[in-house]
Amino acid sequence: MFVKRILSGVQPTGDLHLGNYLGAIKNFVALQNDYECLYCVVDLHAITVWQDPKMLAQHTREVTAAFIASGIDPDKNIIFNQSQVHEHTQLAWIFNCVARMGWLNRMTQFKDKAGKNKENVSVGLFAYPNLMAADILIYKATHVPVGEDQKQHLELCRDIAQKFNNDFNSNVFPIIEPVIMKQAARVMSLRDGKKKMSKSDVSEYSRIMLSDDVDLINLKIKKAKTDSLPFPSNLNDAQKRPEVFNLISIFAALNNSSPEQVIKKFNNSELSYFKNELSDSLISTIEPIGKEINKLLNDKNYLDSIISTGADKARSIANPVINEVYNKIGLLKT
Ligand code: TRP
Repeated sequence: MFVKRILSGVQPTGDLHLGNYLGAIKNFVALQNDYECLYCVVDLHAITVWQDPKMLAQHTREVTAAFIASGIDPDKNIIFNQSQVHEHTQLAWIFNCVARMGWLNRMTQFKDKAGKNKENVSVGLFAYPNLMAADILIYKATHVPVGEDQKQHLELCRDIAQKFNNDFNSNVFPIIEPVIMKQAARVMSLRDGKKKMSKSDVSEYSRIMLSDDVDLINLKIKKAKTDSLPFPSNLNDAQKRPEVFNLISIFAALNNSSPEQVIKKFNNSELSYFKNELSDSLISTIEPIGKEINKLLNDKNYLDSIISTGADKARSIANPVINEVYNKIGLLKT
């Protein structure tokens, strides 16, 4: 009934790292062969927390460049910028009126992000999942590749679609399926295997940036925290050692294999040998992408033409959907 269509979003909060690449972008590249895909740079999500106006546009271009540099074909797919397609915010407001306070109150990411500062965070941070549902449903997307941490937001998206369909006695929206990305869905910090790799970690050695050069990658992997035990001989042992397991998962994701296969391959090797091989894998994947991102960022006209064509293509799908929604609700069309 609904065409299989993929949509996902990445926030332009600056400084893309290995977690963004392996956890999201690499999987987007793989999906483009089989499905119609929309990949959105979600700047309106980014501003739910303060963003420096001097940097935001640059960061939006950076994520767009990273999509292209990683191999997402801008002709075959729709690569675009959320704030340029107004239908997202039109639908988000409607979803603010569909979603219930109780549903949003349960969102663990909001609780984590707001922490003790609940009275002082933006209303946007609270309503964020409604905008995310709008990003998806304005295209009637059916499949959404995300990391583990976004699963709850996708459940909310299903609840919103269902309630809208019920309330307006219609079948406007599909009930989406999450595509939880298998390989290295979660890349952890190189300093603490229990913490997600993050651009806000104080230690630069906790993460590999897409812009890191050969020397820096070598150094960061050499310094990556491990323990003094030999390389694990089975998955069970490996999983008990979060830092080592993280490096194994990264190697697996880079080489399209599984942690089990990596463990087999390096059985009986020194940890230092494995680390060298990991650095080599990282360098051969990350370095060309970093270089291509820079090249694209220096050709702003080309990049902006991709962004603007993407917005046109996105609008041509989104506009009929917002009209359909207005109609169902009883809003007059413009
Ligand atoms: N919330 C997602 C994140 O922080 C980003 C996002 C916004 C998204 N809209 C989306 C992801 C729609 C998938 C689909 O990672």
